[in-house]
Amino acid sequence: ERVALAFSGGLDTTVCVPLLEEEYGYDEVVGVTVDVGQPEKEFDEAEETAAALDLEHYVVDAKAEFADLCMRSVKANATYQGYPLGTALARPVIAEAILEVARENDCTALAHGCTGKGNDQLRFEAVWRDSEMEVIAPVRELGLTREWENEYAQERGLPVEGGSEGRYSIDTNLWSRSVEGSELEDPATIPEDDIYDWTDNPSGKDAELVELEFEDGTPVALDGAAIEPVDLIETLNERAGAHGVGRTDMMEDRMLGLKVRENYEHPAATVLLTAHEALEQLVLTQEERQFKQQIDQQWAQKGYQGLVDAPLVGALEGFIDTTQERVTGTVTVKLEGGHCRPVARESEYAVYSESAASFNEEDVTGGITQEDATGVAKYHGFQSRLANRAMKRAREN
Ligand code: ARG
Ligand code: SIN
Repeated sequence: ERVALAFSGGLDTTVCVPLLEEEYGYDEVVGVTVDVGQPEKEFDEAEETAAALDLEHYVVDAKAEFADLCMRSVKANATYQGYPLGTALARPVIAEAILEVARENDCTALAHGCTGKGNDQLRFEAVWRDSEMEVIAPVRELGLTREWENEYAQERGLPVEGGSEGRYSIDTNLWSRSVEGSELEDPATIPEDDIYDWTDNPSGKDAELVELEFEDGTPVALDGAAIEPVDLIETLNERAGAHGVGRTDMMEDRMLGLKVRENYEHPAATVLLTAHEALEQLVLTQEERQFKQQIDQQWAQKGYQGLVDAPLVGALEGFIDTTQERVTGTVTVKLEGGHCRPVARESEYAVYSESAASFNEEDVTGGITQEDATGVAKYHGFQSRLANRAMKRAREN
């Protein structure tokens, strides 16, 4: 019997290899690393660790597919409690890719190295439990702790990393880098600088402008040149990361109800979400924006749960995509000292009339003049005034 393991070469998934053979009795473990835009060095590490373990190992490229999902999340301005969902959105993509490799390689089971406390187990299994495969979660089922795993790895001479990389549980993809565990578990601990890899400490570095062109809510060009999502995200991670843009240190409410301390880096996500929202501010009506906030929040919730294929998401995207037909135009953001803020926006769909908003011009769209506001001003607050007067009268009686 063969089992396909979601394999990163990190501590959790490395100890899973001997455990799947010894504790679960599988003849062969097939390691699958899915490329969702981790840095090159993670693949080298995964390859090396796989070789040292004598593990049959596959690397599957799912970057483009993942980047497309990230672009869908931009249309929905998707963040969960301030976190742009990198890990969450990657999980269904990874799970599908592993299922495919498992089928091609005559596996009868699928395994992951997630704990029984986190979200990732739920996201992987939501995909896998819809298949004919057995699902195995050694860390959860054997009640493993990272301390136990470290000792076990030492005893068995397993190839695992020490140092800060080994101390934390890190999950990286195009959209975000998450760091948790060790002393970071204490919400009162201020993180050491070494947890950051994508972002420099915000400094006095000269500000930088980034111009993004959107078509139907999707970014299509950077500084005037057409660019594909994967490239765009990689480029922005570099450029915005250099200004310290996109760090989040937060308490996160996980699906099971646990609160955990999470640290994230997501420079490109911050830039794209900021620019996209700035364009929506220009082209959508107030009522569309208000209603869309609720839709967006629902989208983010499903994204966080790893359930982007839920029928609800399709329905939400029906609304979202209709609004995005006008989210076409250009936004310039400024990167400076850890911040990214919109500084210019343009669109042929702008719900904006310069002459109407200007204090200098009398002529106005639709022939409206300043004096026309007098009647509105008389009525404004009318009902509150009536209610307040009534209360006052009643108290006096
Ligand atoms: N809590 C985050 C999420 O649910 C990230 C978890 C990332 N995993 C890790 N091993 N650092 O999306
Ligand atoms: C884990 O618990 O395996 C990682 C964190 C998470 O899934 O939320």
